[in-house]
Amino acid sequence: MGSGPVSGASVLLAFPYLLATGNWPLVYHSPMPVHAIPLTALPAGAGQSRAWCVQLEAGGILYFPQTPVPIPAADLDFLLSRQQSGSRLHKNIAYKPAGDALSGVDRSASSAEEFDRLHDVMRRYSASVSAFLADFLAPYRRRWQLDYASYRPIEEEGRDLPTRRRNDLLHTDAFPTRPTRGARILRFFHNIHPTRTRDWVVGEPFPRVVGRFVQPSTTAAALKGQTATGSTMHTSAALKGHGFSRAGHAPVAVKGTGFSPYIPQPQKTRALAPEGSSTPHPLALPHPDSPAVCALKQLARATGLAALIPRLKRTPYDDFMMRLHNAMKEDAEFQRTCAREEVKFAPGSSWMVYTETVPHAVLGGQYALEQTFLVDAAVMVAPESAPVAVLEKLAGASVV
Ligand SMILES: [Fe+2]
Repeated sequence: MGSGPVSGASVLLAFPYLLATGNWPLVYHSPMPVHAIPLTALPAGAGQSRAWCVQLEAGGILYFPQTPVPIPAADLDFLLSRQQSGSRLHKNIAYKPAGDALSGVDRSASSAEEFDRLHDVMRRYSASVSAFLADFLAPYRRRWQLDYASYRPIEEEGRDLPTRRRNDLLHTDAFPTRPTRGARILRFFHNIHPTRTRDWVVGEPFPRVVGRFVQPSTTAAALKGQTATGSTMHTSAALKGHGFSRAGHAPVAVKGTGFSPYIPQPQKTRALAPEGSSTPHPLALPHPDSPAVCALKQLARATGLAALIPRLKRTPYDDFMMRLHNAMKEDAEFQRTCAREEVKFAPGSSWMVYTETVPHAVLGGQYALEQTFLVDAAVMVAPESAPVAVLEKLAGASVV
């Protein structure tokens, strides 16, 4: 196995941390690069902020071995005690900053005081993450919409969910009822479990995934260029240690280093393909709405009908991204054969990633916080990497 180039910025910033811990970077041929950022690298200058934006936009995961957004101990204890007290939470708890509203809480199992306390904790968490990223991702200049924050107290391993809602199937994110109209979905996570890792798998770069699902006859030539762009995502390094690890691969020792890079292997530990599923038909590329469809959607939005029929709220871009999400989860062959790599996020760590382009799945873990940002695609440091730009290049037309 050869060695690819290490991400210079990541290594330089992580140097004090690496020196202290001995967790030196390893070079992987990995589906997605993971860039570890120690707290000693913060705050950073404008040039470094821009480099981090570039890494995110190239499909990287920015990983903080120690979260840069610590939660007050009292808040943490309260969150962890929710499940321990026997409260029945049927789904993720969602905080909606725009309306300062909390949902997903089983009110029958929560007192009014507990509900208000949880509301306060989530409001604080949302504001803290937003304040941190305003500096950390300064090149975006807050050109984002603060979307939902969520608390995920349910054990992910073994969850019994319908195929399209399963978290353990590799997918890219799309929201059925909240179209982004080309804005990017940036998610910031925090594993608050005191002892347990949160276990993900990540997959191939977005252009490659699109190339696997769209009709080849219409995209072969265009995808050739896009895939070449995406291939740059493979030339990166990952950091091992301090609770972050990659699994599911055959170790290959590197003489004299004490470390082992890994060769990706087929997943063996868990049946990821949904039962009874089969390879779906190829997806059609998005194409502009006809004047009649445009008029129908405008009417639906004006009359409130779009709230009842989510598809009427979607642009062609949103519709494609939703179909891609569903197709990935429903394609047993894809789930069995696509390149994937396991990533385990340490207790107390945080990470962020553009989840509408980086295929991911959650195999296990409990107690995680998350804040979503819908980032204007126009403020990307590399606008051509935005999925809307990729799709418009393929389609040869505007899709939002
Ligand atoms: Fe997801």
